[in-house]
Amino acid sequence: MDRPKILATHRLFEEPRAKLAEHFDVEYWSDSDRPTRAEVLRRVADKQGLICLLTERIDDELLAAAPHLRSVANVAVGFDNVDVDACTRRNVAASNTPGVLDETTADFAWTLLMAVARRLIEGDALVRSGGWKGWNLDQLCGADVWGKTLGILGFGRIGRAVARRASGFGMRVIYSDAVRAPSEIERELRAEYMERDAILAQADFISLHVPLLPDTRGLIGARELALMKPTAFLINTSRGPVVQEAALITALERRQIAGAALDVYEREPQIGHGLLRPNVVLAPHLASGSLETRTRMAMMAVENTIALFEGRRPPNILNPVVMEKIATKER
Ligand code: DGY
Repeated sequence: MDRPKILATHRLFEEPRAKLAEHFDVEYWSDSDRPTRAEVLRRVADKQGLICLLTERIDDELLAAAPHLRSVANVAVGFDNVDVDACTRRNVAASNTPGVLDETTADFAWTLLMAVARRLIEGDALVRSGGWKGWNLDQLCGADVWGKTLGILGFGRIGRAVARRASGFGMRVIYSDAVRAPSEIERELRAEYMERDAILAQADFISLHVPLLPDTRGLIGARELALMKPTAFLINTSRGPVVQEAALITALERRQIAGAALDVYEREPQIGHGLLRPNVVLAPHLASGSLETRTRMAMMAVENTIALFEGRRPPNILNPVVMEKIATKER
């Protein structure tokens, strides 16, 4: 019997490749550059399954170009690149990779927070340049992290993992979310629920952990930045468009906030020129980027794909209604 044909828009890692080979005929995109849209459309045309990255836009046009497609497995927890409703209309199971990257992403939010507060990147540049003349009392003095107030916007799994790490620094944690966390979680993490504006006004560090939704697009703009303390830092490991980049640049220029540390951008991979400042730490969307976690994410996408083709519900399906539609059709 013919095996289902899969397009993987990345060469993936050895373990997920080996697993895929047991079940499917797989075409890989193996260049280190991402494929163009036209390339993806051309290659997906005869495939039943697609394993994609967040750099691919999965929309009606793509689904129309792939009439045999039954599964789209996104190797990311965020799925703002996938039009799930369009997948549902065409009976395509869409899935993502939640859970496995929470701790790794929280580690990286802290990496950014520490780096910007303690001016690590500036210090590294000074040492590398050969311009360091030795210890000096007021050299590259940054801001303390310990004992400060950490404000977390978005208190899901990643936001909570960030909060858990704050206790080692003796920090006060304040958070907001659309839904207040259960009281036992608040007690365990010593986190206080507050209105967003109060958090912006009180926190020394604001860390963003909301998904990109119509409601959260542009969540941090001129008004919100103006509420922040001039000594406060903004950390973003969520999605770029959650922050209005132009407003952030203006706030930095006017010294309305002390600095920012960003892993994500409004128009990746383009970076607003005004962000190229010493008090801004810039990372290339790396937060989940440990080898262990990225391998686990790819494995999850593979498992989601295998499940669908074995007639099982993919463990991380985003549109479970598709399973019912398939079952009804088969009856
Ligand atoms: C995600 O999974 O959504 C991250 O942005 C990449 O790991």
